[in-house]
Order: sequence, then C-alpha cells, then structure tokens
Amino acid sequence: MNKTQNKSKIMQWIDARFPASKVFREHLSEYYAPKNFNFWYYFGSIALVLLVLQIITGVLLAMNYKPDAESAFASIEYIMRDVWGGWFIRYMHSTGASFFFIVVYLHMFRGLLYGSYRSPRELLWIFGMVIYVAMMMTAFFGYLLPWGQMSYWGAQVIVNLFDTIPLIGPALSEWIRGDYVISDITLNRFYALHYLVPFLLAGLVFLHIVSLHKVGSNNPDGIEIKKGKKGNKWDPRAPADGIPFHPYYTVKDTFGIAVFLLVFFAVVFFAPEMGGYFIEQPNFEPANPLKTPEHIAPVWYFTPYYAILRAVPSFAGTQVWGVLAMFASLAVFFFLPWLDRSPARSMRYKAWPCRAALGLFTLSFLVLGYLGTLPPTPGRTFAAQFFTLVYFAYFLLMPYYSKQGRVKTPPDRVTG
Ligand code: HEM
Repeated sequence: MNKTQNKSKIMQWIDARFPASKVFREHLSEYYAPKNFNFWYYFGSIALVLLVLQIITGVLLAMNYKPDAESAFASIEYIMRDVWGGWFIRYMHSTGASFFFIVVYLHMFRGLLYGSYRSPRELLWIFGMVIYVAMMMTAFFGYLLPWGQMSYWGAQVIVNLFDTIPLIGPALSEWIRGDYVISDITLNRFYALHYLVPFLLAGLVFLHIVSLHKVGSNNPDGIEIKKGKKGNKWDPRAPADGIPFHPYYTVKDTFGIAVFLLVFFAVVFFAPEMGGYFIEQPNFEPANPLKTPEHIAPVWYFTPYYAILRAVPSFAGTQVWGVLAMFASLAVFFFLPWLDRSPARSMRYKAWPCRAALGLFTLSFLVLGYLGTLPPTPGRTFAAQFFTLVYFAYFLLMPYYSKQGRVKTPPDRVTG
C-alpha cells in the first residue's frame, strides 16, 4: 500500500518539510530489536526519563533558588516551606539524583553481564562512559548548591585533592574555586556549570542512541541478530530474531517506567532522606567555614571511588598516588572493550573465570561503596586496600583470565 495514502493531511504537510514519519519508521516501527530483551533492558529508557525529570525539576528549582553564599541555604528552606509544591519539586530532584545513579549503575552492570561494550559497540560504551563522567560532574556541582555543612566541606575536600598534583596543583585548585577556600565565587560558578552540564548530557545521550541504532542492540545471548537468519513476519530482509521496537518495546518500557515511578514516588513521599544516604544529616545545617563536621563523606554514589582514594597510603609525603588511583579506577572502564578476550560475549556462555571475576568485581564495588561512607579505622583501611586490588585485578587481568576455562558455544538463534 502507498504510505502517503494513509497519512493525514497534517502529516503529509509535516513530512514534506521534516522527515517525521521517516524517523519514526527507521527508529521505532521498523527498527528491529532482538526479541529476547529481559529485565536488564529496562534501565536505558528509565535513565532517559530521569534525565528529563532532573532537567524539568531543576529548572523549576532555579526559579526560586539564589546562588549566593548569604542566601542559598535560606532559599532552599523557602522552597521547602513557602513555595507552592516546592518541597515536592526539591525532593523529586534530590531523590532523582540518587535514583539516576542507581539506574545507571544497573544499566552499566547489564553491559558487563552481556558484553555489550564489545565490538562493534565500543563507541557506544565510550559515549556511555563520557555520560557517566558528566553525570558525576553535574552531581558534584549540584551538591554545593544547598550550601549546607556537607555541601561546603565535601567540596572543600574534593577540590583540595587537586593540591596534591605536583607543580600545578595549588594553582589549579585555586583556579577551580576562584578563591583560596570554597566561597561565594565558587558557589556562583558551580551553579552556572550545574545548569549547563545536563544539556551537554542530553546531547551525549543523543549520540549514545545514534550509535546504538547504527550497530543495533546487543542481547542477553550476546549474539549478533543482524548476522543471523533473515526474514520475520514484518519484513523479509529484517533479522529473523528481531521485533519492531514500536509497539513491542515501547509497551514493555512503559510498563518498566510505571513500576519504576511507583518505587521512585514511594521514596519521594516517605523516605526522601533515605536514612542520610540521599540527603546527609549535616546538610540540614548552613555551611560554616569555621566548623568542620566530625566525619566528611561524599554522597553514596561517589563512595567506591572515595574508598579507593583513602586506601592508597601517602608516599614521600604526597597523597597524589591516591588521587591517581581514584582517577585510574574510572579510566579503566574506558578500556574494557579491548581487555575482554573471551570467545563468548555474554556471561551466559563465558567460562567460569569471567563469571567469578564479575562476581568479585561487583562485590568489591559494593564493599568499597560501603567503606567509603564510614570513618576510616585500620581494619577498614585494610579491607579497602584488599578490595581496591580486587577492583583493579578485574580489569588488568582480564586479557589473561578471559581466555581461560571452557566456553559454552553460543547458540545460532537467540534463546528465550
Ligand atoms: C543518562 C544516562 C544514560 C541514558 C539515558 C542511556 C540510554 C540508553 C538507552 C535508551 C539504551 C537502549 C536501551 C537499553 O539497552 O537499555 C542504551 C543502551 C546502552 N547503553 Fe546507555 N544510557 C545512559 C548511560 C550509559 C552509561 C553510563 C553506559 C556505560 C558506560 C551506557 C552503556 C550502554 C550500552 C553498552 C548500551 C547497549 C546495551 C545492549 O545493547 O546490550 N549507557 N542506553
């Protein structure tokens, strides 16, 4: 049937000027995704919802927030108490930040599980990692804005880390702060950047999805449906194991988003501070440059890296090695596509050393995350050192252990 015959006048008018129907067909109704997506495939679309939610609630908060050391804390209290629905917007934004990281961590774990970072998806993975770094920067800038005790001292500790860099360190940290300590100047620039980076993030997510649609999704079996049998009931040239993204996965994702929103709003309404993990207790006190809180710890999503930083002892009177280890623990993720040499892509068919390594890595990430929230003791520091080694071993020994053991032969067609 002629496609234009079905179209309304308005659609024909739009299509003559903008490729709306073409984009809809190529990226939704005639985009064939593997038919075996499971639970782990919900988190990409949920992350997209969270990005939009963070931008909308952020812009609404900005309408009443004042980026000024004298009035920032009070303006948040004003939003919480006097602005109509202000508490709701603020709690959606603060809870949304933590949920964004939970969802992205699960999304990344899926990548590790099914080898989604491997060829031809290296760039897709790298865009994902750049997104992750941009998310961390956004969260770091945003955390200073309420100008509470933890905002202030957390930023102080992190910016001071740059001091340890030989030669340029002190000048660099002063340049970041715009002052000798965290001050009104720092608050102003962090606010400007906190408003800017999410829009860069949106652009990066666009690139992430463009590269996903160029190569096509991976799937729990880790086999390329494009290389397999051709022809399904919609299109004889399409992969036999593919189904149209719309309506099949739009319906599946809508369900996932609905369940996610139930959990999300339960937290927003009943536990927005999440026992001090989502909003830390000292942040209910205004920033006081003369009073250091007893224990300074970043928000939970940074704590694995913070634990790695603290695990490395200072050598020759400098902490720079800890700082380097912390940055290296992020950098190694970028190289993952080239470290994995297993003949199988998905954990379903990989040999036991790969499975054991992923299990140990996940454990190390969780334990380091927990240790990073606690004040250090000799026992905890020892545990953090041990799990830091496990963390790095996962990446650095991968070229070796991924080739060991007996791999199960992946099937020709996707399984259920
Ligand atoms: C704002 C954050 C992010 C958004 C909105 C986002 C969005 C998406 C979406 C919609 C998909 C397709 C659906 C799915 O496979 O779940 C996807 C796939 C993927 N994403 Fe992300 N993503 C984000 C962050 C990341 C990060 C941080 C990484 C890893 C470093 C990553 C790596 C991947 C990979 C490897 C795939 C393909 C997975 C497969 O086909 O098995 N993404 N992403």
